[in-house]
Amino acid sequence: MEGGNGSGELAGKRVVITAGPTREPIDPVRYISNHSSGKMGYALAVAARDAGASVLLISGPVALRAPAGIEVRSVVTADDMLQASSQAVDEGCDLFIATAAVADYRPESCASDKIKKTNEAMALPLVRNPDTLATIAGRQDAPFTVGFAAETSDVARYAKDKMQRKNLRMIVANDVSAPGLGFNSDNNAVTVFWSGGQETIGPDTKQAIGSRLVALIGQHLKQG
Ligand code: CTP
Ligand code: CA
Repeated sequence: MEGGNGSGELAGKRVVITAGPTREPIDPVRYISNHSSGKMGYALAVAARDAGASVLLISGPVALRAPAGIEVRSVVTADDMLQASSQAVDEGCDLFIATAAVADYRPESCASDKIKKTNEAMALPLVRNPDTLATIAGRQDAPFTVGFAAETSDVARYAKDKMQRKNLRMIVANDVSAPGLGFNSDNNAVTVFWSGGQETIGPDTKQAIGSRLVALIGQHLKQG
């Protein structure tokens, strides 16, 4: 196992982080996906490494290099992400952080040949994808689990509701309607909620936000 700073906030901890989008194939040349550069998840992984953790990134397709000292397992679909995450938690995990922008639905089936345009309109049947975060948090041997919530309105209400519904210890909410922040940007502003408290971080670089998040999560992890 690779670790970093032996005296940091997360020294000796195994941290698993999901990042990036998933892609759900429609046919051999097309897919459904979400906006996500993976930058927030990768920044958090670097901050956790610098705090002494052994870090595993489970990453959807992104244009980012694997950070030094961090293992990256690449996945494509939401099903892959659940499978890789479950395996990682089976292997041992103290802290699970889900930053990935997982596609909520996938095409009911993937056409084996490229779909040709024929009609003026078409409908594509979709089915619900599994929820990696809720599945990990719902395990009997669940690690300390932290989620993200990207919202465009009523940010605090939706985020706190997700924290309760998914049985999370903390949730990091960001308002993706804020101009210049969030998706694809190097900057972000977030509000972290936990049972009985909250803290707003930023606007700042995703790396600076990652460092503060790791410090805050580390404090709560220590409290058990
Ligand atoms: N998440 C996940 N697997 C999914 C969907 C979401 O692991 N299939 C995780 C995300 O990585 C994030 C959190 O759940 O940490 C919240 O994701 P979000 O899309 O905001 O919430 P949903 O529960 O999917 O609700 P909705 O999209 O309807 O707001
Ligand atoms: Ca969603």
